[in-house]
Amino acid sequence: MHLISSSRDTTRLQSIMRITRAISTVHDLHRLITLLASETSKVLNVERSTVFLYNRKTDELWSYVAEGESNEIRFSADQGIAGSVFRTEKTMILHDVSVDERFNKEIDNTTGFITRNMITAPIINPSDHCIGVFQVINKEGGNFRDDDAEFLEIVAAEAAITIENVRLLESRKRMFDSLIKALVISIEARDPLTAGHSFDVTFLAGKIAEYLKLDQDTSEAIYYAALLHDYGKIAVPDSILKKPGAISKEEFSILRKHVLHTRIILSPIEFEERLEKVPVFASQHHERIDGQGYPDGLKGNQISIGGRIIAVADVFEALTAKRHYREPFSHGKTLNILVEGIDTQFDRNAVLALRQYFIDIGKIKQEEVPLPEKAGNAF
Ligand SMILES: [Fe+2]
Repeated sequence: MHLISSSRDTTRLQSIMRITRAISTVHDLHRLITLLASETSKVLNVERSTVFLYNRKTDELWSYVAEGESNEIRFSADQGIAGSVFRTEKTMILHDVSVDERFNKEIDNTTGFITRNMITAPIINPSDHCIGVFQVINKEGGNFRDDDAEFLEIVAAEAAITIENVRLLESRKRMFDSLIKALVISIEARDPLTAGHSFDVTFLAGKIAEYLKLDQDTSEAIYYAALLHDYGKIAVPDSILKKPGAISKEEFSILRKHVLHTRIILSPIEFEERLEKVPVFASQHHERIDGQGYPDGLKGNQISIGGRIIAVADVFEALTAKRHYREPFSHGKTLNILVEGIDTQFDRNAVLALRQYFIDIGKIKQEEVPLPEKAGNAF
């Protein structure tokens, strides 16, 4: 480790600090690696930087970020300088690529770019596997130096840690998501006629959240709450759940309890902090704005935003779906029912958002679902 002895070293150190800060604040992997590439190009004074990642399934390297190149570059992981560095896991400085037979001219021929010199560093993850290469091309005004390669190795190491962290988080999220969906499918398998209900409600609740411009964490909590909102029906006997005709008062009171079961089942799940409202959102989908809903008879804003949105999506989906005892309602008829229920059964903004969504996708015409005078139009 040498001392900071020149302005060049200071610039490089400042650049590493900017990269480190970006890693802790930028959560979009592609944006982050793009930032790493442009920072590297600036500091090393090169024409372009490219990050190739390895695809194990196809045994190829592909350009995850390629400055100045809009098309994806993809080639066998055995090919070219990048392939060689990937296989040997050793950084390579080439002062003149034209004299190196490993250099793959095909890429330059395809892209029209002329490569003169380059450094290629392996991207090695914390478990010591090479997951790609970081390449800088065409040093302006001179040759690459050894300390350029050192700098690139540092950036490649930062990139490796970031890529691994994001991949780990994404795979955890995919596992959690698929587990929740498996739970939903298992409960919905009991009644083929209502199967798919929770997924449709989730889609509609997502649209309402989007139109209301809710933040990402709240939207995600609504997504999981909508998927799981009827999960408590697991505790309702088939004889009630699948009864074709009208149900008795006693049976209805048992059916109503599904929201309490949803809350009881979901509450012990250790959702991450930003999703901690999922059990509350899910178990409030039968509350009404006027306080006549269940299980708690909450009024207006006492009902969570998630509960108010899922209530609207739930009723819309139920009415537009076929039931044992009736044909599906049209979108226009259903939305008119929802608009009539504004401020008594339903949240005004959630209904207006859903109405606007169906207008925007051309499912209904604005005049088919007139707004009550005081409803206004938020969209
Ligand atoms: Fe329900």
